[in-house]
Amino acid sequence: MKNKFVSLTTGLVVVFAMVAFFISCNSGETGNGLDSGKADSIKQMIERGKYLANDVSGCIDCHSQRDYTKFSGLIVKGTEGKGGEIFNEIYDIPGVVFARNITPDTLNGIGKWTDDEIANAITKGINRNGDTLYPIMPYPHYNQMSKDDIYSIIAYLRTLSPSNNKVPDRFLTIPMSVAYPVLLSSSLENNIKPDVTDKVKYGAYMVNSANCMDCHTPKENGKYVISKLFSGGFTFNMGSFKANSANITPDSLTGIGKWNEEMFLDKFKTCRDPAKYISNPGKVNSIMPWSLFANMTDSDIKAIFSYLCTVPPITNLVEKYPK
Ligand code: HEC
Ligand code: HEC
Repeated sequence: MKNKFVSLTTGLVVVFAMVAFFISCNSGETGNGLDSGKADSIKQMIERGKYLANDVSGCIDCHSQRDYTKFSGLIVKGTEGKGGEIFNEIYDIPGVVFARNITPDTLNGIGKWTDDEIANAITKGINRNGDTLYPIMPYPHYNQMSKDDIYSIIAYLRTLSPSNNKVPDRFLTIPMSVAYPVLLSSSLENNIKPDVTDKVKYGAYMVNSANCMDCHTPKENGKYVISKLFSGGFTFNMGSFKANSANITPDSLTGIGKWNEEMFLDKFKTCRDPAKYISNPGKVNSIMPWSLFANMTDSDIKAIFSYLCTVPPITNLVEKYPK
């Protein structure tokens, strides 16, 4: 335990120093060491990155091993970032794609990548070798996040314990050029994070950063049906259970139109209780990472609700747990 703590602290110090170096290089300062203000801001950056990567943007959700004998597929402790989860026809993918190792391991992870190389993969889907990533990796969404948020995530990834897990190569039955999506933002510099006081706009930013759309929008021929945005009904057949994503538009009969802010918040908050994660295999379970989203701050969850109340209501009756 003590050793772990020492190596973690050393790791953090190294990361702090690296980030500080990066920042001072970029601001053109000659820099004569860390002042406490800088160290604080790096600490804050890593904290923000940890929050986003774990509880909002799903990086750790997809890039770690999940245990579906627990409700909502708890992350197996110690596997954070090591990759290997399989994405296949369950996600409507023409082939098989594997979440990659995003720990700082220099051989099988991203330890040798520069911050800009990692940012390119996260926001443009282009990795260090110049290969394009299949958009199940939600770079079309991260493409619109603020530069600060993206570089905070990167700073946090560098604090993960390196894993030498070697992830198999993907196999696609269509050329990637067909699957490469249109990206809305050409540069992170242009992206603006709305002020938290603007609840609806900030909520939209959070919903985008959390990829709520990807699971909650039906697909046809591999493309999201934008006229049915957030209306649910995407079936996840996980073998041990089946779940349809819910209609989260403000339709009052089939969506969340009759929910109020408190109900919405409570739905997430109950999942802060570890007792919730005992699951009965084959019974009610979900692929939605409730265990992670539950740790979003109350105000972020409320902002998400405010935004969802403004999207077009769509009537679509979904049976969440089909037989
Ligand atoms: C829905 C699941 C999912 C989520 C969420 C997700 N990823 Fe990924 N990611 C993948 C998959 C799958 C690949 C591999 C894609 C491929 O091989 O075409 C990937 C690839 C990557 C790569 C490229 C690595 C390499 O070796 O080429 C990086 C870096 C990465 N993800 C980082 C992140 C970060 C950071 C986040 C959060 C901001 C994130 N991912 C969120 C599934 C996901
Ligand atoms: C990995 C896929 C996935 C992601 C990502 C996801 N969801 Fe879900 N969601 C589901 C599924 C499947 C269900 C239905 C089963 C359940 O209730 O857990 C669901 C259910 C819900 C419900 C319950 C609605 C009801 O009628 O009971 C709400 C609310 C919700 N999601 C909101 C969100 C929001 C907000 C986000 C983004 C922060 C999000 N979801 C991201 C898959 C997902």
